[in-house]
Order: sequence, then structure tokens, then C-alpha cells
Amino acid sequence: MERILVCGGAGYIGSHMVKRLLNEGFDVTVFDSFETGHREALQEGAAVFEGTLNNPADVNGVLEMKPFDAVFHFAARIQVGESVRQPSLYYGNNVAGTLNLLQAMVARGIGRFVFSSSAAVYGTPLEIPIREDHPLVPINPYGWTKQMVEQILADFWRAYGLASVSLRYFNACGADPEGSIGESHDPETHLIPNILKSALSNSSEPVLIFGDDYPTPDGTCVRDYVHVCDLADAHLKALDSLRASPGVRAYNLGNGCGFSVKQVLEAAERVLGAKIERRIASRREGDPAFLVADSTLALKELGWRPRFTSLEEILQTALRWHRCPRY
Ligand code: UFG
Repeated sequence: MERILVCGGAGYIGSHMVKRLLNEGFDVTVFDSFETGHREALQEGAAVFEGTLNNPADVNGVLEMKPFDAVFHFAARIQVGESVRQPSLYYGNNVAGTLNLLQAMVARGIGRFVFSSSAAVYGTPLEIPIREDHPLVPINPYGWTKQMVEQILADFWRAYGLASVSLRYFNACGADPEGSIGESHDPETHLIPNILKSALSNSSEPVLIFGDDYPTPDGTCVRDYVHVCDLADAHLKALDSLRASPGVRAYNLGNGCGFSVKQVLEAAERVLGAKIERRIASRREGDPAFLVADSTLALKELGWRPRFTSLEEILQTALRWHRCPRY
């Protein structure tokens, strides 16, 4: 039974990964600081180690638990705006913390790593859809932290033979179709949870549309929404590919289909069968007009193809969670 360490396994994407790994019969250990992760998202059957990547004693402590075959790394700060205000927090957690982890892995000879990267590494896209060979010029500290870790991984492969795959997620969304785990951030900044929360609450707080004067068909920002279970699936395929052919690679993970903020709202209205109040607000700083992935490399090299291709279906899974969130 392969032993996998999941850093950030109590978070949104990490917990979906843990559930999938357990279903596939892996031996799973979660490492989480629970600063943003949820204890309620822990899955029965996974071992748990509470600690922070910034503390080398914690990192060594978890790695001493068992001889891990691979590490999946989801633990990171993820808010773009916060990263602009508090870059120290972001470089400290996302870069220095990850470096601690990688150094400890090298010291123990753990040779496989799957990293949660982001479309934020591309900055403002020069071309849509975005391919992996697009220049990496992030426009905020969050994006830089992801780019820097990718650079560290390239250097660690050459120098120490640490094999890795970086998965550049576009807009992660949706929830486990069984409804036991889902997306819960505090504060919540993401579009889909904000739409569903607004629609389901009695507060009649309208959804804010951050800008309707972008150079897009309806003036609102276009994003590529990819289901969290499809992201988990890509990690398993990345691990297979590292076993078959060690190296250092990066792949986009998106549906390859763009939806505007207004289109997401309309799809949510269809799924809910109700009107959702909205208000146009000013643009949010740092939002590119279009972010759409070309994921053909992941299809070709990993054999990954998203199964949730319909926005309505994605929203259904998110809605199921938001109707009855457990945390
Ligand atoms: N939006 C609204 N109203 C809201 C929330 C969002 O109009 O209440 C808009 C945003 O302005 C954006 C779109 O909806 O145009 C999507 O916003 P999200 O916050 O859901 O997602 P982002 O595209 O900003 O963020 C995603 C990831 C980040 C990553 C970023 C890369 O969630 O982790 O892509 O650019 F950094």
C-alpha cells in the first residue's frame, strides 16, 4: 500500500484528495495546521499530524511517522488581495514553508512530489487559451509564491533528483457529490460560494459583480471553472506519471471553457430555480479579464480529462454542500 502525505489535507481541495486516496486504498496521512483547514473535513481512516510547515520540528515529526512514497502539497495561503497587503505571510508560508518540506524530503530520500500551483503564475495572459509555455509573470505576491516554488522544484530535480509535477489549477469549484465535504473559506472571496450563500440566506444581500466594463462579451470577467474532484483525479494521474517517468513537469488544469460572472449567475439561477439579486460594483484589483486554460498537455501526457464539464452540474454539487454545510 503506497503511503501518501497530504499537506493541507483538511482544506478545501486537500480534503477531497484525501477522500479519493482513501477510496483508492492508499495509506493516507494528513498534515495540517488547522489555521484555515477544518477538523470536520478530516476523513476517517487517515492519520493526522497537526503542525506547521514553518516549523522544521513539525515537518521532521510527520516525516518520521512512516516512509512516505509521495507528498501532495495543498497547504498554502490563497487570497490574492491578502498577499498584496501581507507579502511576508505569503512568502513565509507558501515559499519558506514549502522549502522546509522539500529539504526534509530530500534528506529522507522521498522522491515524489505533487504541487498545487495556480493559473496565477501566468499573470495577465497574452493569449487565450493559456498553454504551459506562456511566460510566467505573476502580477501579485500569491502568484509569485507559486512561480518560485515551481522554480525551486526545477532546481531540486536537477540537483537532488526530487521528481515533481506542478498542477496549475484554474478556478477550483464544486464539492464532493455526496455532500460531506465542500468549500468553506473565512472570509469567502470566491464567486460560486458567494452566489450560493447569497441565494440561500435570508439576508437578501445581493451578489456583487466586480466590474462589468471588461473587454469580454458581456463586460464581466471570464474564468475556467474546474471541479475539485477532477483536480483530485489529476493528482492521482500525476503520481502515476511520476512513477512511470520521473522528472519535473507542470500542467494546466481547467475545463478549457470560459464562463463570465454573469453566465455563472444565470446558471446558478437555473439550478436554484430562483432569481438571484446582484449589484454591479467596482473592479477588484488584479483581476484579469480572461483566464481560460488549454489543458491538452494534461490530456496527452497524464490522460486527464475533466468529468464535470457542465457548469450546472458543478453548481449542483456546490449547492448540495451549501444547503447543509458541516463547517
Ligand atoms: N467575483 C465577483 N463577485 C464575487 C466574487 C468574485 O464578481 O463576489 C468575480 C471576480 O472578480 C472574478 C471572478 O468572479 O472575476 C472569479 O473570482 P474568484 O474569486 O472566484 O476566483 P479568481 O479567479 O479570483 O481566483 C482564482 C483562484 C485563486 C487564484 C486566481 C488566479 O481562486 O486562488 O484564480 O488568478 F489566485
